[in-house]
Amino acid sequence: MELDNMISFILFCWLEFLSSITVTNAATYNLSRSWIGSGFYDDFTFRTFDDPTHGRVNYVDLDTARSNNLSFASDNAFVMRADSTNVVPSSARGRDSVRIHSRETFSDGVLVLDVRHMPIGCGTWPAFWTCTPGSWPVGGEIDIIEGVNGIGTNLASLHTPPGCTMPTTGRMMTGNFTGNDCVSGDGGSNSGCGVSDPRPRSFGQSFNDGLGGYFVTRRSATRGIATWFWPRLDPFLPYDISNPSSSSIFESLWSTPWANFPSSPNMCDMTDANLLSPHEIIFDLTFCGDWAGSVWSGSGCAGDAGWSCNDWVDQNPNAFADAYWEISELRWYVEA
Ligand SMILES: *[C@@H]1O[C@H](CO)[C@@H](O)[C@H](O)[C@H]1NC(C)=O
Ligand SMILES: *[C@@H]1O[C@H](CO)[C@@H](O)[C@H](O)[C@H]1NC(C)=O
Ligand SMILES: *[C@@H]1O[C@H](CO)[C@@H](O)[C@H](O)[C@H]1NC(C)=O
Repeated sequence: MELDNMISFILFCWLEFLSSITVTNAATYNLSRSWIGSGFYDDFTFRTFDDPTHGRVNYVDLDTARSNNLSFASDNAFVMRADSTNVVPSSARGRDSVRIHSRETFSDGVLVLDVRHMPIGCGTWPAFWTCTPGSWPVGGEIDIIEGVNGIGTNLASLHTPPGCTMPTTGRMMTGNFTGNDCVSGDGGSNSGCGVSDPRPRSFGQSFNDGLGGYFVTRRSATRGIATWFWPRLDPFLPYDISNPSSSSIFESLWSTPWANFPSSPNMCDMTDANLLSPHEIIFDLTFCGDWAGSVWSGSGCAGDAGWSCNDWVDQNPNAFADAYWEISELRWYVEA
């Protein structure tokens, strides 16, 4: 190779290298929307359908939730809770609780949740997630906070139609994968591809004892989905996340995510709307059902004393006093 050819070849490689860095590099995001207190009533709807995961739950509408104080808003808090005063008749649909969906849908960007308390207690199954409003699993689902009985640590999962698998190495995350095929729906397992956070503070009683914390989820069609979590008093909590008035946030400040679901053209192409479409943001709290109900025996809950999960939920209202979400703020950022 002649010298000037050599130089242009090296230059070409260098530029290719730089552009590959730009693709994988951390981005800056600007504030687009935020929800505090009664702001949730404007932009989220209360859903009252039967729980698709077969929980022992009766999702109530906005008026019922507010008049029974199952939902409450102040200047700095938004609360959603289970009924913890009434015995549920066996003929009823289940224990009163709340499930809300955002009116709008969201795609690429960063969702920051500042949450002080999550629902705990035997039989509970809370979740904070995003999902296609279409015909699941087409368009996908991203579970950000999920677990059962207030026990164990947090699990994040991705659910898609066939055609999305996670690499077995090089995922750059501190959590532990529980499955690498994200396929969900008829004929397959519904567990998707999960990642569990090994930190006890990430879920349940221990999360609440730590005064809650911050869940940050980045979605990028080309780079994939990543989630970070910091307990409220974590000395490594980045200032752009803890500051409620941050108008810009910087991914480069956040270190390694605990869960990472990379997008790649061959294994999981998140630019494909069949796998990942615009999503609603959802909070819910159900009881028993497909997950909490199926692990009820041997979970350390009252199943070990002979109660069925549904009977426990129906007959022990006091056991649901801590079954509530208390949210400080939810923010949505888009790439700057
Ligand atoms: C409603 O719930 C909120 C939040 O838990 C609480 O502060 C308030 O006292 C409750 N109101 C009534 C009337 O019970
Ligand atoms: C999770 O993964 C880490 C390494 O990434 C490993 O040290 C740890 O033992 C794993 N924990 C569990 C519960 O598998
Ligand atoms: C993001 O915010 C910065 C600082 O205010 C501003 O300079 C930039 O134009 C914003 N980007 C977009 C896309 O709005």
